[in-house]
Amino acid sequence: MESSKKITVKTLARAKAAGERIVMVTAYDATFARLADRAGADVLLVGDSLGMVIQGHDTTLPVTLDDIVYHCRAVARGAERAHVVGDMPFMSYQASVEEGVRSAGRLLKEGGAHAVKLEGGVEVAEIVRRCVTFGIPVMGHVGLTPQSVHAMGGYSVQGRDEESRRRVLDGARALEEAGCYALVLEGIPTELAQEVTASLAIPTIGIGAGPHCDGQVLVIYDLLGMDEDFKPKFVKRYDAMGERVREAVASFAREVRAGEFPAAEHSFTLRRAVS
Ligand code: KIV
Repeated sequence: MESSKKITVKTLARAKAAGERIVMVTAYDATFARLADRAGADVLLVGDSLGMVIQGHDTTLPVTLDDIVYHCRAVARGAERAHVVGDMPFMSYQASVEEGVRSAGRLLKEGGAHAVKLEGGVEVAEIVRRCVTFGIPVMGHVGLTPQSVHAMGGYSVQGRDEESRRRVLDGARALEEAGCYALVLEGIPTELAQEVTASLAIPTIGIGAGPHCDGQVLVIYDLLGMDEDFKPKFVKRYDAMGERVREAVASFAREVRAGEFPAAEHSFTLRRAVS
């Protein structure tokens, strides 16, 4: 993918055609957005995963549209090249098509996002169609959809039995037909993700969906290893930042208590009078 140009929905479509993998990470603030953008991430997702990693909830369900708008604004300020996607939180689009379109519009108008993402298959196709009609690009999300955690009975891999596999395939097809420009495949078997990816013209971006997707996404706190106790099978940790943050703060605390910080080089003195 072009390294200097802004990433758009067209760049992502061309990436699939050229067989180039798409790199997406979540971001929730301007600092991480800037770092991920400079590191070459193509897409920054302001995910409703912020309900867990930023707000400390057990699920994504309490996240509000105002929360996502707030974090989108920060991420949009930090991003230069990357394509910014605002996640539609639970109950910002489920009640009616009108509400869905209005919510999606807020993420672009107030949040500065370039596109929105929503969870679900056939049942959200009409909302996608209406958003796309009015110039709002939509990324779909099928398979393990965390907003349905209670209906799924937990965060379990989807698409393993025939009925569930059909739901994923039909949903993916309906979303492409409705105008989605990309599709997140979460928590499904490798073989099913490969089948969906081969059957669609739009790029698929996987998380816990094996290596055959057109791109991959991880929650940035997971890939950085921020939570030492969270080790799901689909996450690869590229750092142990949780441990490093703990050690850095412990060093600061030790030096403050020992009277070692601040040292002379961190302190100001009165200017000498000029004679
Ligand atoms: O909210 C989120 O971070 C997501 C990704 C994990 C796909 O939806």
